[in-house]
Amino acid sequence: MRKINIGLTEEQRHGVMNLLNQNLADSYILLVKTKKYHWDVVGPQFRSLHELWEEQYEKLTENIDALAERVRALGGYPVGTMTGFLEIGTLKEHSGEVPLATEMVARLVEDHEQVIRNLRDHVDQCSEQFHDEGTADFLTELMEEHEDMAWMLRSFIEGEALQPSGDQPAAETKTPVGV
Ligand SMILES: [Fe+2]
Repeated sequence: MRKINIGLTEEQRHGVMNLLNQNLADSYILLVKTKKYHWDVVGPQFRSLHELWEEQYEKLTENIDALAERVRALGGYPVGTMTGFLEIGTLKEHSGEVPLATEMVARLVEDHEQVIRNLRDHVDQCSEQFHDEGTADFLTELMEEHEDMAWMLRSFIEGEALQPSGDQPAAETKTPVGV
């Protein structure tokens, strides 16, 4: 095979490809979880959540393809088996459960937040340790997309915490900063 000569050492390219493969695995797990909730959700928010999750799994599908193709562009092979995704991904599945809509949203917010934390760390590693600004830039954009998706989801449940509940007087309800 022709040697790749793009200004990165073998070690740097492999370091970056490992990070990309971990992001790929987590994106795949998140795609499956998002799809399952898109199918299972019930309740007054059905239509909004069903549609939002469709948009999000389409976005995740595009990102998965871009991650895999970036691994190829760096000369490696992307993970492409369910066993591989579960082995190197950091997200956990909750098989056999059909939670309430708000719980589904909360779980996906946590997953997106974990992906954002991983990506933030990977961006630093790419530029500082592996000297690959191209991948750092690519992963930064991906991180911003997850921040956007997490915000959309968070907005569904954040309002609930601001509602005065039966045993908590309205006066004690905290006003969010900036309101
Ligand atoms: Fe659908």
